[in-house]
Amino acid sequence: MISRETIDKIFDAARIEEVIGDFVTLKKSGSNYKGLSPFSNEKTPSFMVSPAKQIFKDFSSGKGGSVVSFLMEHEHYTYPEALRYLAKKYNIEIEETGQTDEEKELRSERESLFLVNDFANTFFQQQLWKTEEGKSIGLSYFRERGMEDDTIRNFQLGYCPNSGTALTQAALKESYKLEFLEKTGLTKVDGDRQRDRFWGRVIFPILSHTGRVLGFGGRVLKKDAKIAKYLNSPESEIYHKSKTLYGLFQAKNHLSREDECLLVEGYTDVISLHQAGVQNAVASSGTSLTVEQVSLIKRYTQNVTILYDGDPAGIKASLRGIDLILEEGLNVQVLLFPDGEDPDSYARRVSSAELKDYIKEEKQDFLRFKSSLLLDEAGSNPLEKSKAAREIVQSIALIPDALQRDAYVKECARVLQMDEKVLFSELAQIRKSKQKREQQDRRREESPKMEVVEEEQSAIPTSSETFKQEEALCWLLLNYGDRIYTFEADEEEVEESVAEHIITELAGDELEFENPSFQKILQHFVDAFDRDEKILKAEDFLKEEDAELLSVAVDLVSEKYELHNWSSRKIFIPEKDAYIKAYTQESVLRFKEKKIAQLIQEAQRKFNQDDDAQREQQMQMLNRLTTLRIKINKKLGRVV
Ligand code: CTP
Ligand code: MN
Repeated sequence: MISRETIDKIFDAARIEEVIGDFVTLKKSGSNYKGLSPFSNEKTPSFMVSPAKQIFKDFSSGKGGSVVSFLMEHEHYTYPEALRYLAKKYNIEIEETGQTDEEKELRSERESLFLVNDFANTFFQQQLWKTEEGKSIGLSYFRERGMEDDTIRNFQLGYCPNSGTALTQAALKESYKLEFLEKTGLTKVDGDRQRDRFWGRVIFPILSHTGRVLGFGGRVLKKDAKIAKYLNSPESEIYHKSKTLYGLFQAKNHLSREDECLLVEGYTDVISLHQAGVQNAVASSGTSLTVEQVSLIKRYTQNVTILYDGDPAGIKASLRGIDLILEEGLNVQVLLFPDGEDPDSYARRVSSAELKDYIKEEKQDFLRFKSSLLLDEAGSNPLEKSKAAREIVQSIALIPDALQRDAYVKECARVLQMDEKVLFSELAQIRKSKQKREQQDRRREESPKMEVVEEEQSAIPTSSETFKQEEALCWLLLNYGDRIYTFEADEEEVEESVAEHIITELAGDELEFENPSFQKILQHFVDAFDRDEKILKAEDFLKEEDAELLSVAVDLVSEKYELHNWSSRKIFIPEKDAYIKAYTQESVLRFKEKKIAQLIQEAQRKFNQDDDAQREQQMQMLNRLTTLRIKINKKLGRVV
């Protein structure tokens, strides 16, 4: 865990306008900045950044939040990833808490591995661009393959010299430890002999989605059947092949923008497509696709298109991939390249426009792809045809969404010209045995401590009568909580802050908000109050990890919101400071009034149901509530 102090330091140092400015062109507009929404394709700017409040609000998508939640939204970082990004940008050292010594060691080991990889990555690029050997062998190889200099730089390609020890020696000279060179696999150690793993190869660094160097791929330059064409970094504390997608760092924003991920096999496929203007491609890098890789994609888009070679191996790989992607609930399409070509060779042979057309035209829905493939094999043999149908239904059965399954079965019946009913019953059977299997698996996992947990019947939330008042009170807490006024309480006058007034008035009657986000905001204030801490301010909510809550809080403090929401709902807007006190008192009373009205309704309902013995009690309750209601309404200056 990143320590509280570090989080505070990061939030203190980070300027939201600077951070967002790296991704969105912002123009000064009054005390705010304005720009085109990065979350939609708008023509007139409705994306606002407030340096004073350190918030952003995107009026076209409704998204809003802090500097950290912007990075989570836009760069798809997790909360800690976003904090680390900012720490790096603002040179803040991260302090971790709650770690065991073992975890600390592992963490610092991971950092050391990253540092060594960073060094190697810079070294390989320097070799490529700055040395005679690198230029004449490595750079010329890339250029012969049609790569432009910009592309080579963008993918940070490099070269590892032939000598066999150049990298290791350079790293040791810079005081990098041999232990870490060995653990990243950059150096192979054999007794006291050391050797660069990638000697004499061109280098493809493998980056995480945040751009950190996880490992490398190295390609031989000569055609030599005896040695492997590609060598990759071995698995390490920081590199897990099955959890990595090559090219994700360069492609990620295109994945969301195009709302589609093209999945290819190799390094050069990604690079050539990118250079040809098709930038939403990533590679599974020679492994068969894994669930972890699919979940990485899921962070950016629901739509995957598999682009594989048209040879039997490529087709087989795509069939496996299809099922995996379907099972993860994503949509999948398939595009095969002519036999003997891969996306790289094809992208180099045709123009960028032809390539884009080919992708658009040749892309097939998985169902059509799989059925035409299997039907071609089956010919007119009815037995083979039913086998093909079963295989297709097996894929459909993997889709988690029932409506989608339904639609696909119907489509399948049409394509195969078979009876829907037969296919549906086949589907039902497959699903049933699948569920049974899963149940058994679960039981086996849980068996020693299996207990039946009755699922609690959760009350269906009714649309809250008190919602507007809750919102008003939260708005006051967040914007004016620390203002001090003289409030009247029980016939006497007390000097207290707006927050104190609201908290004591509500706590005295044990009242809570119904809306969960508003209640959370209130609870934060109550907790700080109970701990005798200073009154919370809107800024304190910016560090909130709960994105939903943060977005509600940001809505309540953004200026445009005041104007739009409040005036359109004809709620009295306290334009001047002087009204804040009155508005606070009024909102508290209105909230109580609504609550009491609810209680009265409840009591009446009970009164009508209960037997005579209970009625007396309910009657008293009703009387008390009604008196209270009259009192409140008197204070509010109106008659019921
Ligand atoms: N691969 C690998 N190790 C190998 C062969 C392949 O890791 N020995 C991975 C690489 O990521 C490679 C991908 O599998 O990019 C696809 O392999 P292949 O089709 O053989 O290579 P290409 O990408 O076509 O490479 P090139 O065009 O440079 O020959
Ligand atoms: Mn190739």
